[in-house]
Amino acid sequence: MQTDLRNRDLIGDLDFSKEEVETVLEVAFDLKRKRALGELHPYLRDKVLAMLFFFSSTRTRGSFESGMAQLGGHAAFIESRTTQISHGDTEKEMGEIFGRYFDGIAIRHVDWGIGNRYLNLVAGASRVPVLNMQCEIYHPFQILADLMTIIEKKGRDLRAKKMVVSWAYASSYLKPVSVPQSLILQMPRFGLDVVLAHPPEFKLMPEIMDQAQEQARKYNAGFEVVDDMEEAFKDADIVYAKSWGPLLTTQDAEEGKRIQDQYKNWITDERKMRLAKPDAIYMHPLPADRNIEVTDGVMDGPNSVVYDEAENRLHVQKAVMALTMR
Ligand code: CP
Repeated sequence: MQTDLRNRDLIGDLDFSKEEVETVLEVAFDLKRKRALGELHPYLRDKVLAMLFFFSSTRTRGSFESGMAQLGGHAAFIESRTTQISHGDTEKEMGEIFGRYFDGIAIRHVDWGIGNRYLNLVAGASRVPVLNMQCEIYHPFQILADLMTIIEKKGRDLRAKKMVVSWAYASSYLKPVSVPQSLILQMPRFGLDVVLAHPPEFKLMPEIMDQAQEQARKYNAGFEVVDDMEEAFKDADIVYAKSWGPLLTTQDAEEGKRIQDQYKNWITDERKMRLAKPDAIYMHPLPADRNIEVTDGVMDGPNSVVYDEAENRLHVQKAVMALTMR
């Protein structure tokens, strides 16, 4: 067990080794148990986390904020538009200055080609950990929560279990590629055979695909890409189907929507779920476009674990904060 994660950043999924992720999960399960029993666990008493948001959030804000309070500290909610960032505060100023006020800096910045660079520049100037609440490339805390949920539902030995990471149609907006990218990076390390399914225009970043292949090889897991949602669902143990924008094809919102609208049949419905194993779990990070991306019947049905998945954001984030910010 690797226990010294003090002052470590978590920006990309592979920033923590597999053994370090296992430590995070151990701590997360312990914190979940403590919360269920009402046992106080103020590991971060008097510590303060800055939460800097360039984009909206329900779960991420709620779980980081309540998580810090449960650890005995405080989280400051800061929207970028209410700061002086647009008037000249650079990444260096934010890292240097917030690093002196706060004990950790969490950032959500999903703008294409900008967000991840912003986090890394702040981290370079900061004396305290920088935590990625989602950028355009990675969503590491979502994936830690997903992994915790999969272990709860399917056990610790995940070898030979089939996980589908599928694109699904949504009409609301062009969603980031960070969730599928983080999934294909992290899940093969835990032995899951990952099948990635998407229409041709919805490719992921080539360097992430290469890293995912490398992780699958290293951990003897499968990694396959198909362009057929139904083929992917066959005999799956875990169905993770969500929308993302065709951002590697175009960053133009109108053009992206035109491409996306060709694939309205990529919905997760009861018929497709019947192709998976009877005890397959349905996962989604939320928010979902109900009855467009996934039917109410699946989302609220017996195979859905979406609320446990959302809950586990709280426990894994508390674990990472307790380990990195103490
Ligand atoms: N899944 C997730 O990150 O949710 P929010 O966008 O609401 O934070």
